[in-house]
Amino acid sequence: TIKASMIVVSNRLPFVLKKDPKTGELSRCASAGGLVTAVAPVVIKGNGLWVGWPGIHSKEPLGEIPESDPSDQTPTAGLRSDQVVCVEANPTEFDSYYNGCCNGTFWPLFHSMPGRAAFSADDWRNYVKVNKLFAMKTIEALEKCHKRNTASQNVPIVWIHDYQLMLAANWVREAAEERNLPCQLAFFLHIPFPPWDIFRLFPWADEILQGILSCDMVGFHIRDYCLNFVDCCQRHLGCRVDRKNLLVEQNGRSVRVRPLPIGIPFDRFVDLARGAKKIFKTQQKIILGVDRLDYTKGLVNRLKAFEVLLEKHPEHREQVSLLQISVPSRTDVSEYQQLKEEMDQLVGRINGRFTTANWSPIRYIFGCVGQQELAAYYRDADVALVTPLRDGMNLVAKEFVACQINQPPGVLIVSPFAGAGEMMHEALLCNPYEIDEAAEVIHRALTMPEDERSLRMNRLRRREMECDVNFWMRSFLKAMGSIEEDDVGVT
Ligand code: UDP
Ligand code: G6P
Repeated sequence: TIKASMIVVSNRLPFVLKKDPKTGELSRCASAGGLVTAVAPVVIKGNGLWVGWPGIHSKEPLGEIPESDPSDQTPTAGLRSDQVVCVEANPTEFDSYYNGCCNGTFWPLFHSMPGRAAFSADDWRNYVKVNKLFAMKTIEALEKCHKRNTASQNVPIVWIHDYQLMLAANWVREAAEERNLPCQLAFFLHIPFPPWDIFRLFPWADEILQGILSCDMVGFHIRDYCLNFVDCCQRHLGCRVDRKNLLVEQNGRSVRVRPLPIGIPFDRFVDLARGAKKIFKTQQKIILGVDRLDYTKGLVNRLKAFEVLLEKHPEHREQVSLLQISVPSRTDVSEYQQLKEEMDQLVGRINGRFTTANWSPIRYIFGCVGQQELAAYYRDADVALVTPLRDGMNLVAKEFVACQINQPPGVLIVSPFAGAGEMMHEALLCNPYEIDEAAEVIHRALTMPEDERSLRMNRLRRREMECDVNFWMRSFLKAMGSIEEDDVGVT
């Protein structure tokens, strides 16, 4: 029921390629993020294509992409190798683009932490260069798509994702017009779009806006990010804008800006939670944190709030543990290396202060856990702490409520500075900057009566079930005019 085939463009492909050091043979290593779960079936069914970086650098061209392993159960298993277009960049340039510009500049700036952002002309040059490379690969994909679907009247959708690729649409539009390859261009930002007084700090801000405005439709998680973007277009580029209808005029075109809050594969998480073995063998209550080890996630404040809880409410000592899963991320960027040091020290200090013969307050896992194991933690935790200083959406909050199938359920604590905090009204709100207050919110969660927990969790679960990732995908296709208002048949 989808009218158009889709070309997805993202920095990472939906799987990582691994090269056997002895035989040189390539294999796919699956990844199962929410984006992949939602988008892969549409690409597969619509005979579309996925353009992205395969996760490795190689001196020689990689050659043939392998088909997926027959045992692969993930949503990308059906993505054939001829649906994948690999972007292979020069490693030095890629490093400057990815670690320098994407994660050393845009990540902190867009999360409104300009003090952590480095502005380097060299990194910016490489950002431009790598975006051009992605655009050229996308044009190859578009040519392929038009050849395949010669009989079809429908115009393919090129859907570019996230802050790594904010310029690519520029050259895709240009080349597609020159070569007479009609397409609809869309962009979705998975992180916040900052207010103008932060955005304007970026020396090449105009180019970024122009890059994004090369699309026909631009999506953000929430309305505030849409309004920030519209505001920047008006104040920076002098565009005519319509705030009510979220439209921006650019070069005689009207660009649609839309809030499209992403959801999760709700049913899949419920199934995982039903099937997962019990892991906790303790009578103590568990407070759970699951995050990439990233300074935007508010991890230092979280540990400090937990320390205050133990100080001010000693009745929780030996009764409650904080299980923090911290996934290593962007380990070549110095801000991330420093955070790792700080967290190690803080965990050591707090555990040193409170540990008794039978109990340690913090269990700290520095590593990645599989989805099934994660579902068991989500299901059996009493409280989930989702307290970022800033976060585009935060899927962990949503996955936690999906997995809360035990009766009586646990409690979600969420920061108002995450997109998720905007919509999950029945969660307890917690400002991570107010550490004493955050400790009180945790205390309230730990002592909340069962009926209140059930009421809140039921409502949270119903919303996530209805507004799941398929709903998000349909909302996107509707915004592109690619399915009718009442058409629900993309899953
Ligand atoms: N995740 C995972 N393994 C882990 C920890 C996290 O697969 O050990 C997944 C988690 O299920 C979620 C994603 O990583 O889907 C994190 O997404 P979120 O939006 O919370 O934060 P991001 O990392 O995108 O900033
Ligand atoms: C966030 C970003 C994604 C990114 C992911 C993991 O969710 O929005 O674009 O892929 O973090 O980060 P990494 O740098 O490892 O791709």
